[in-house]
Amino acid sequence: MKKAMAEIIRLGSVDSTNEYILKEDNPEGTVVLADSQTKGRGRGEHSFASPEGGIYFSCLLKGCSEDDPPSCARLAPYDAALLTPKAAVAVCTALEELLGLEPGIKWVNDIFLGGKKVCGILCEHVGNSYVAGIGINVKSSSLPKELREKAGGICDVTEEPISDEMKLRIAGRISDIIFSPMCADRVREEYEKRLIVKGKMVSFTLDGKEMTGIAEGINCACNLNIKTPGGTVTLSSGEIRLL
Ligand code: BTN
Repeated sequence: MKKAMAEIIRLGSVDSTNEYILKEDNPEGTVVLADSQTKGRGRGEHSFASPEGGIYFSCLLKGCSEDDPPSCARLAPYDAALLTPKAAVAVCTALEELLGLEPGIKWVNDIFLGGKKVCGILCEHVGNSYVAGIGINVKSSSLPKELREKAGGICDVTEEPISDEMKLRIAGRISDIIFSPMCADRVREEYEKRLIVKGKMVSFTLDGKEMTGIAEGINCACNLNIKTPGGTVTLSSGEIRLL
């Protein structure tokens, strides 16, 4: 078995691994993996269904401070802004390498397989502590019925049994990529080549107005450029819907 570099703290059930890792005084490089979450957090006001069987984990990083030496590997502000795209690239890379899958990224932070969302990413920070939280659905049959039309699991698209050991390898590989340096150009390149919305018609809400356009690609900050009849708009956050 290939040993993951990141040391993983395993928990049974927890409210939220993001919450847990941020509230304890954990050192950078900590990874917390839970069997289930009772209050899994999603983006915005959303919750994230986290029944037993999925892979729910958080990686803790620290931002650099003025006292750090210039060679310090801590997160510079620009890297912090790219943490979500980097985490998306890390998830895709791990699923490609370990399971031979071909995941795609739906801007900004959803990972898709077989036309369904199989993974969500929530990056948060409190002061100098940054967390990349990742939730991967394994069996779609464990998800609440009302989510199954849009959400799937990695078991739906692979014959490979997702054993406990495989879950640890997936979380370990993703964490290792998140903790490894990756230049901004590489993050953008790896992100954009897996972007499933590129060239597609999407709808979105801007300043309370419902709009449609063609997603053209991302800019240097991984914001999404959308060509609309009134000109190109750039989204830095929010939700887009594929039409
Ligand atoms: C989303 O799709 O809206 C983001 C979901 C992020 C879920 C993960 S599971 C591990 C970590 N802990 C949480 O409470 N949320 C993230």
